[in-house]
Amino acid sequence: MLRSLASLFFYARFFNSFSVRGYRRAASDWSELEPDFRGQTWLVTGATGGIGRYTALAANRHGARVIALGRNRSALAELKADADQPRRLLPVEIDLSSVAAITRLARHKAITTRPIDVLVNNVGVLLNQHELTDEGYERSFATNILGPFVLTETLRSELRFGQQALVINVSSGGMYGTPLVSDAMNCTDPKRFDGMAAYARHKRAMVALTGWWNEQWQGAPTVQVMHPGWVDTAGVQSALPLFRRTLKSQLRNAEQGADTILWLAAQRPAPPADGGIWLDRERQPAHEFAFTRNGLVKPEAMVAFLRQAAERALET
Ligand SMILES: NC(=O)c1ccc[n+]([C@@H]2O[C@H](COP(=O)([O-])OP(=O)(O)OC[C@H]3O[C@@H](n4cnc5c(N)ncnc54)[C@H](OP(=O)(O)O)[C@@H]3O)[C@@H](O)[C@H]2O)c1
Repeated sequence: MLRSLASLFFYARFFNSFSVRGYRRAASDWSELEPDFRGQTWLVTGATGGIGRYTALAANRHGARVIALGRNRSALAELKADADQPRRLLPVEIDLSSVAAITRLARHKAITTRPIDVLVNNVGVLLNQHELTDEGYERSFATNILGPFVLTETLRSELRFGQQALVINVSSGGMYGTPLVSDAMNCTDPKRFDGMAAYARHKRAMVALTGWWNEQWQGAPTVQVMHPGWVDTAGVQSALPLFRRTLKSQLRNAEQGADTILWLAAQRPAPPADGGIWLDRERQPAHEFAFTRNGLVKPEAMVAFLRQAAERALET
């Protein structure tokens, strides 16, 4: 009961900005985005569906060479077939919840040929069933935050980023409902698993990680974090069927959800100084509620946890 009330409050609180109404209101002030990504190499995770698929195809249409990561071979083939410049869309089949596979990826020919200019850490899942990966981690933890952490850190340590490279992390407005935690991100006990809470923690961690990376890396590469609002995708259909049925007419399409990703890559604004997050081309605060402001851990403790988790995965 309390849980349902909290969800209702949350949805009502953010309806005006996260729904398609928020997008339309913001977009009424925009000029047409005509990005030129020629000469750039993009790496997009979770490129076989939803926001990631739209992003990969749009970047390719605007001239980029796009390395598209997904685990579904036929969906990757369809993606390539739908590209405006199919020869410049390179599908790579990979399970993005596997630390070992991600670590090997940095040596893949598609990645070693040219430096990465834009990395879009888009992949993300909200799982209602508890499941462990072969490396022993809860699958949404491994996909949503451990994988992007390992991918970005590995590409950087293997010197795979270009000089003006940009990393765009795709978070979620769901992160507003939770403070930063560390080991509680990885719930290995099926009885205690709450997929929605887990997802929110991973997405909160993504915001904190963005600020931490910017502090550490000082623009090499620059890191941004955005959220797409509520978008009607296969992910939402399977994870939140009731939410989708109820709000279907108010959800954004993939193009609207991906808009800020493309805008960040085209416009290159400075990351929000206060650790905030982008929505509809505007800076938004990192916190909307006082109870999340002081995380239960500091970002460095969360990063240390991820680093340890990555090392352990490689020992299995
Ligand atoms: N949609 C929304 O309303 C919304 C709101 C806030 C934030 N977001 C965030 O936006 C991002 C994209 O969301 P979306 O709604 O577009 O998701 P989606 O429709 O579920 O698409 C995600 C894609 O990632 C792939 N994928 C999932 N797990 C993978 C794995 N382990 N290895 C490789 N590929 C994998 C999926 O392919 P398979 O078919 O193989 O599963 C799918 O093609 C996520 O980070 C999500 O959290 C979305």
